[in-house]
Amino acid sequence: MTNSKLKNQDLEIYEIIKGEESRQQQVLSMIASENFASPAVREALGSVFTNKYSEGYPGARYYEGNTYADKLERLAIERAKELFKLPEGWGVNVQAHSGSPANLSVYIGLLEVGDKILGMYLPDGGHLSHGWSYEPDAEGVDHSQIKYDGGRRKVNITSKCFEAVQYKTDPETQLFNYEKIAEIARATKPKLIITGGTAYPREIDYKKMRAIADEVGAYYLADIAHEAGLIASGVNASPVGIADVVTFTTHKTLRCNRGAIILGKDEMIKKINRAIFPGLQGGPHNHSIAGIAVGLAEAMKPEFKEYSKQVVKNAQHLCAKLIDKGFDIVSGGTDKHLFLIDMSKKEILGKKFSRALALGGIIANKNTIPQESNTPADPSGVRLGTPWITTRGMKEAEMDFIANWISEVYEAVKGFGNDMPFKEFRDKVTELPEIKRIAGEVSELCGKFPLDI
Ligand SMILES: Cc1ncc(COP(=O)(O)O)c(C=O)c1O
Repeated sequence: MTNSKLKNQDLEIYEIIKGEESRQQQVLSMIASENFASPAVREALGSVFTNKYSEGYPGARYYEGNTYADKLERLAIERAKELFKLPEGWGVNVQAHSGSPANLSVYIGLLEVGDKILGMYLPDGGHLSHGWSYEPDAEGVDHSQIKYDGGRRKVNITSKCFEAVQYKTDPETQLFNYEKIAEIARATKPKLIITGGTAYPREIDYKKMRAIADEVGAYYLADIAHEAGLIASGVNASPVGIADVVTFTTHKTLRCNRGAIILGKDEMIKKINRAIFPGLQGGPHNHSIAGIAVGLAEAMKPEFKEYSKQVVKNAQHLCAKLIDKGFDIVSGGTDKHLFLIDMSKKEILGKKFSRALALGGIIANKNTIPQESNTPADPSGVRLGTPWITTRGMKEAEMDFIANWISEVYEAVKGFGNDMPFKEFRDKVTELPEIKRIAGEVSELCGKFPLDI
């Protein structure tokens, strides 16, 4: 932003953006749902398409002046078809503003309000938009800090509008138990079954889920928000052609700007298109579609396949190193870009550990784990992901450094214990020379793998 118009016009915002740029440069961003979009993606995102309204779909808009908006949306659709190897009879919607509205539009398009949906239990790794709700007195969950409005707590619009049922992972293996899911489906007869989540580190057997959906006459939605880039690269298996509908966000492993794409059988996409517009949204965010189209073309390149392989290798290498250092990893490892450290047997839990890591320059998030017995505000896990650090060019050698730092942070702070008030813990950790040293070393490593800002 040299000779920046923004700087001249609005110094406050300019400085905030500059601050964020240098934060991103200096830390290890290991939030599994984040990545670093390329300069070309960001240029398209910041283009004049932000000025254009184009309610409707290519060739059938409500406003004039859509010559280029039509070209853009058609090209984005074609690229999505090619990248995800869509079979005959499948279509694409690129207009959903993000992952949650994409999922909601599938429910609105295919179901009646009040119909039953079956998704994965959130603390085991599911997502809010898969119908998250819970019984206030559910076993093993301390909801003492949450205000109830009586009865089942319907947290998300998807559980307010649809009757949500949930399946959990197996308590022993922490993996999908397909037999159990089938039993729940038989007993509850959902109209739609959903797989996918924010913190499930293993591959899903889409064919088994298809069979369960067929047995109970349900639609099958595979939400691949997290793995979309790995699936596009062929590193993880694809549900395309198996599920009825596939939704995903574009900004995680797929490395575009924020947004979402919906793939599905033509007859379903027609209904979902109507659910998006005019059902749920007005004009599409054309600037966002432009960025996504650029990112989709990047993901078709051989380099992206290599990148995706390295994302998984890095995650697996880091897991193995952390296990060597005495950390428990949910399900014992990962098939993907993310994994969960189980802190339940450690001296501090997820909230304190993720803050201590952040003070050391490693940015992750606290997360619930399967069989969670603590509150979502202070859960037993920390989730780590490798998409962004792999975009920086980091490989196994750097994962060794990161594993050491994670372990050193834990050793430096564990003595404070989990009972210490959070602010006191934060202030004490901030002052620890060990943590300052680690933050300095992290920043030095990041300097060797600069981001193309
Ligand atoms: C599985 C899954 N679905 C949907 C979403 C929602 O995406 P968004 O945050 O863009 O609404 C997420 C976001 O993390 C996700 O992990």
